Amino acid sequence: VFVTRKLPAAIPDDYEVWPEEAPPPYAELLARARDCDGLLCMLTDRIDRALIEAGPGFRVISQMAVGVDNIDLEAATRRRIPVGHTPGVLTETTADLAFGLLLATARRIPEAERFLREGRWHYWAPEILLGTDVQGTTLGIVGMGAIGRAVARRAAGFGMRVLYTNRSGAGYAGAQRVELDELLARSDFVSINCPLNDGTRGLIGRRELALMKPSAILVNASRGGIVDEPALVDALRSGRIAGAGLDVYAVEPLPMDSPLLDLSNVVLVPHIGSASVATRGRMAEMALENLRAGLAGRRLPNCANPAVYD
Ligand code: DGY
Repeated sequence: VFVTRKLPAAIPDDYEVWPEEAPPPYAELLARARDCDGLLCMLTDRIDRALIEAGPGFRVISQMAVGVDNIDLEAATRRRIPVGHTPGVLTETTADLAFGLLLATARRIPEAERFLREGRWHYWAPEILLGTDVQGTTLGIVGMGAIGRAVARRAAGFGMRVLYTNRSGAGYAGAQRVELDELLARSDFVSINCPLNDGTRGLIGRRELALMKPSAILVNASRGGIVDEPALVDALRSGRIAGAGLDVYAVEPLPMDSPLLDLSNVVLVPHIGSASVATRGRMAEMALENLRAGLAGRRLPNCANPAVYD
């Protein structure tokens, strides 16, 4: 068994653990895959078809994340390899971060902190660092799954109206299901909470950003690939939208020459949606549980490709 990073959980002695802080390079992963029974991986590891097919002994792939867009699920299913993931345990923590980004961007909290630390606070004044109110506004949630619903619960505490889109058509009490274009046009805040897949890649592009109010703020704590990043940069730079709070990016880590870093109307954090001590511990335990089940030939408690059991 190869574990691609140290975990906040006890790892059995006979599992091999990548010893470095940085992720193993792809070539290293590929080499290990050749004689692996099981792999415990992270969202930063590219688990593509070549890698899946390189391991004739693979019985299970277990990812410590809910999103599995880095894994070729189809190739795994074809080879009858179950892929584990960690839904549920990170829902509330990720919703906290999404809502935190919403508040931080609306009220310019990081910018205000920099202002104070840089010694620029010489007096209180009526027009310094004015932001946008959150209470009583309209929040549009793109993807009303578990995390989207958790964001909606937080919005209720702020007296926000909630609009949402989802694939399943399921209702949500107190919120209105609308088409994406209507959501974008009517929302003061738009929170992206759908998974990244072929249907959502580039979902928020130039056209969609142009539908948003000039005063609106976009929050993304899902996956960077859902938003067309160059189009977002243009929209932020030209004032087409008012701001963005981002946890995720098209390329991670965010390159230090990214134009996003030159903009003052964005709040940028480094993919920390699920980063609380308790949640990361639960995610690690869950990933180990999925791994053990797969090695023992049992059904994974949380399987991302249940078709493997058909
Ligand atoms: C996930 O689980 O997919 C998050 O992006 C990291 O927790």
